[in-house]
Amino acid sequence: MPTAASDLLALEGGTPVSAEPVPMVRVEITDADVDAAVAVLRSGMLAQGGRAAAFEERFAAMTGAAHAAACANGTCALSLAYHPLIEPGDDVLCPAWTYIATASMIVARGARPVFCDADPETYTLDPADAERRITPNTTAIAVTHLYGAPANIDAVQALAARRGLRVIYDAAQAHLATWRGEGVGAFGDAVTYSFYPTKNITTGEGGMVTTNDADLDRAVRRLRSHGETRKYLHESIGFNYRMTDVEAAIGLSQLDRLGEATERRRANARALDRAIEPIPGLIAPRAPLGGEHVYHLYAVRLEAGAFRVDRDRFAEALRAEGVQCAVHYPRSTHRQPAFGDLPQADLPVADRLARTLLCVPVHPGLTDRQVAIVGEALAKVAAAYAA
Ligand SMILES: Cc1ncc(COP(=O)(O)O)c(C=O)c1O
Repeated sequence: MPTAASDLLALEGGTPVSAEPVPMVRVEITDADVDAAVAVLRSGMLAQGGRAAAFEERFAAMTGAAHAAACANGTCALSLAYHPLIEPGDDVLCPAWTYIATASMIVARGARPVFCDADPETYTLDPADAERRITPNTTAIAVTHLYGAPANIDAVQALAARRGLRVIYDAAQAHLATWRGEGVGAFGDAVTYSFYPTKNITTGEGGMVTTNDADLDRAVRRLRSHGETRKYLHESIGFNYRMTDVEAAIGLSQLDRLGEATERRRANARALDRAIEPIPGLIAPRAPLGGEHVYHLYAVRLEAGAFRVDRDRFAEALRAEGVQCAVHYPRSTHRQPAFGDLPQADLPVADRLARTLLCVPVHPGLTDRQVAIVGEALAKVAAAYAA
């Protein structure tokens, strides 16, 4: 019985599916991106200005929102969105199955994250579980559009309307994702985005808050820049969370090809779906019905009991076959030591996902052959380790 990647290779005569590793991510910076950044650098006007304003306007239109405010990163975007919508001491429903920032910025606001379980099929927040966890102090719900899949927005909005909750969506991984044909920016009180290098679009570091509420947009802009309403008039306490014009120029240039890059991600995902469909024990990702996925990540699930090895050993074998892969995330956010003083909720789906999901390459820089290699390597490893 094979027990390690080397055994698996020996079993197959020692020849990996690919000698050249298929990369998990590729950060694409084109000459146009570089030229756009250099033009700002040469202008000498580096701080937030005209490029940021143009980036905001185009980003709002592309995501279906009325307003957009650029900022330093996706964590700042969450902080800027939470600040006007949540009060210290509030309870805020939030997914356990997400990146830490969705929850940690609730704590940074002085509020308490109430972790909710994930939907076992789409991995986004389970609205029914969230409703069961509402307390008398619950005022808001934060929901992540995870891996590029919109959460079940109909169910979240219905819950929020029924229980009088504010809604903040974390779309750090879901630029251009849609719900019933509309951009995810069209829904909720505020939506936040990240432009970290591995995201579907990057500005180096960067973030955005979109909203359809003009008052909230004003509040976010004020908070982003030390509560300033006129030069050196500070009406409230704020931060410096601004985006530079160098970053915004890169973002604008990247927006020119985001649509095309998203279509490429989707085409790669469809090819992976087809490759995985006949493999017993592997489950392809899917968005809730009504949502269109943008495949920031392609998370394959290993069905319980289908393999003789655990997910980490499976991943090791896949790497030995020449396919890079990654675990997002090795532990559920509610299990992070940082939240150790919060009551431990029982969240079995999130805990199971931490053991069974494995992300494989899907980015737009892959060739058709590389996508095929991912499918072939998954099939080979799955067959060798089938229970
Ligand atoms: C779901 C989610 N929320 C928030 C963030 C934070 O974004 P940033 O890294 O730009 O601060 C990330 C980025 O890693 C993320 O994936």
